[in-house]
Amino acid sequence: MTSPLPPTVAAHLPTGMLVGGRWRAARSGATFEVEDPATARTIFEVADADEADARDALDAAVEAFDPWRRTAPRVRSDLLRAVFDTLVARTDDIAALVTAEGGKPLAESRAEVAYAAEYVRWYSEQAVRVDGLARRAPAGTHHQLVLRRPVGPALLIAPWNFPIAMIARKIAPALAAGCTCVVKPARLTPLTTAYVAEVIRAELEARDLPAGVVNVVPSSSARRISEPLLVDPRLRKLSFTGSTEVGATLLAAAAPSILRTSMELGGNAPFLVFADADLDAAVEGAVQAKMRNSGQTCVAANRFLVHASVADEFSRRLTRAFEGLVLGHGADDGVTVGPLIERAAVERVAEVVAQAADGGARVRTGGTVPRRAGYFYAPTVLTDVAPDARVVTEEIFGPVAPVVTFDDEDEALRLANATPFGLVAYAYTRDVGRAMRLADEVQAGMIGINRGMVSDASAPFGGLKTSGLGREGGELGIEEYLDPVYVAL
Ligand code: SIN
Repeated sequence: MTSPLPPTVAAHLPTGMLVGGRWRAARSGATFEVEDPATARTIFEVADADEADARDALDAAVEAFDPWRRTAPRVRSDLLRAVFDTLVARTDDIAALVTAEGGKPLAESRAEVAYAAEYVRWYSEQAVRVDGLARRAPAGTHHQLVLRRPVGPALLIAPWNFPIAMIARKIAPALAAGCTCVVKPARLTPLTTAYVAEVIRAELEARDLPAGVVNVVPSSSARRISEPLLVDPRLRKLSFTGSTEVGATLLAAAAPSILRTSMELGGNAPFLVFADADLDAAVEGAVQAKMRNSGQTCVAANRFLVHASVADEFSRRLTRAFEGLVLGHGADDGVTVGPLIERAAVERVAEVVAQAADGGARVRTGGTVPRRAGYFYAPTVLTDVAPDARVVTEEIFGPVAPVVTFDDEDEALRLANATPFGLVAYAYTRDVGRAMRLADEVQAGMIGINRGMVSDASAPFGGLKTSGLGREGGELGIEEYLDPVYVAL
């Protein structure tokens, strides 16, 4: 068994909350435990912030806002670029942290660090490219200017499934736009955020920039942080990544303050395989779309909709590919599938698989909870799954691939769109006309054609329907932190 954290990382990891450029304990002195999900052992204790701590953090973000928004875009850009350089240089240390608290295999953690750093680099470049508009009014009576202003202090609430990437794609555009922030890391994965926040804090200090630009409040209760801040009129922005259920609650809480909100919520991605697909490519894409972070991504392929003529062959090859995966501690050599994040996640996945099997689904591989420490679930392929099984209608968030068949393109499209979610869809076909019809008709904010992965820091990530509001990444990501101001001249 490998130790979860290199001693050099553990020795320098801040475990407090960051307020106004200073790490400190929670006012109450309370702490909470962070576990390694691959062993179910506690690896760290961190400060457990409460309402008073949250207000302290907002005070600091408010104080820093004016000087930060007046800081030259080039200076903001240079800061982000330096953070990018440091993240890249320390990839191995950060990846070790991501694996220790989140469980994913080290290769995936390294890929996540690179993905996160790319957001920081992209927004270091966008910081100096915030455009406005100037034109003559149609009536010829005046000129119209549209300026962009940072919206103000932002609350950024991050999920546990990508402890560095999700926080980077919120902090980087916020800082590039001139906003300051209070960051609430996920209860299960606060360590990586602390590490990254310290990198930013040190760069701010070295450049004599406002200390309270980034503040961090780890807490065992997201509500203790969000409730006082969402009713505080000084907060002007909320960005949340997490479940649709929690997103809806936060939207309701943000309504009285008419807060700008970005919501990156749940998904139920269809993965369509047509009869003309390259099956080798489809299986490779399926493993990628399904198994990243053991299926715990909101863009995970949730339902495999496969043309009846190729369903047997596709299922056979997918089963073989799943059987070749190596389950284990993410820090161990050769491991390709890590644990789920906590015991409740294993119980939920086991429950939806059992319900599908009771309804007639055939378990081609997996369907078991391995007898070992930690929160593991075996990679699972199900065929003959009823279209109304929970494993199809609900977001699984685990390493389970249910296969459902269709007979023609209309049926495929109807099944793909038969969900309240609309985050992402994947389709494998060699027919360009069909690919374009799907691009027009599939109800999703992102569509991967012959690709099992769409995520890219330079592209707009986000969903339709109950999958969210707004976009992160690309040119649109910074707009979420800017208000247009129209000047009639
Ligand atoms: C997510 O699952 O929340 C994000 C995944 C990604 O950015 O690729």
